[in-house]
Amino acid sequence: MPNRPFIVGNWKMNGSRAMLPEARAIDRAAARYPDVSVGIAPPFTLVAVLAEALTNSQAGGQDCHAEAKGAHTGDVSAPMLADASASFVIVGHSERRADHGETDAMVKAKAEAALAAGLGVIVCVGETLEQRDAGKAEAVVSAQVDASLPSAEAISVAAQGRVSIAYEPVWAIGTGRVPSAADVEAMHAAIRARLVGALGDAGQEPRILYGGSVNAGNAAELLAVKGVGGALVGGASLTAEGFVPIIAAASRAED
Ligand code: 13P
Repeated sequence: MPNRPFIVGNWKMNGSRAMLPEARAIDRAAARYPDVSVGIAPPFTLVAVLAEALTNSQAGGQDCHAEAKGAHTGDVSAPMLADASASFVIVGHSERRADHGETDAMVKAKAEAALAAGLGVIVCVGETLEQRDAGKAEAVVSAQVDASLPSAEAISVAAQGRVSIAYEPVWAIGTGRVPSAADVEAMHAAIRARLVGALGDAGQEPRILYGGSVNAGNAAELLAVKGVGGALVGGASLTAEGFVPIIAAASRAED
């Protein structure tokens, strides 16, 4: 059901087995909102453990290597994530682009590797504050979409419904600041236009998630913005108390 909203927790470099009860509580709550697709992306060390523990939601990775195997110490490949029962992987997060020098071409290769391994993929894009202040936000994000998106061939062959884009303004991540609804709507429309430009009608399919300081207090408003197909949530996804209200906000089901 690709048109269900997709609410994904990105645990970043947080989490140990001690957090399994939180994940289980999130998973139990997810059962109450069957019209929402819920995912948690823990650190690699917990992917298999979470995949085993979750029944109403999916476990995913936060990154993968573009190659399937080989001499890449410390890296994890998409087939390895699939083997650990991950359902999806996040690629091109701004923290990876900044901390590890990931380019659009690398992100694209990772996204294609994820699709080839049968995983869903969330491709992250977003501008810095400097770029926004210079009036370049849409140009920057459009260029990232163009160059980070898996090829039309990779998507049409392997992956109807398995591709999502996450728009995460870098300046909104972990800061408590969020763009205005009008800015989110405009950017999501710009991203959709790039998707349709690249993929034709199939470009209507991928969900476009919003990420950056989403919390229980602002989720309903952000998720109601035209073109927002879900949320990628950092800090607020680390507890059931923080994350479940965001899932509820995406649902039309009554509590
Ligand atoms: P925060 O929700 O903590 O701002 O993080 C957003 C994010 O980077 C999710 O990938």
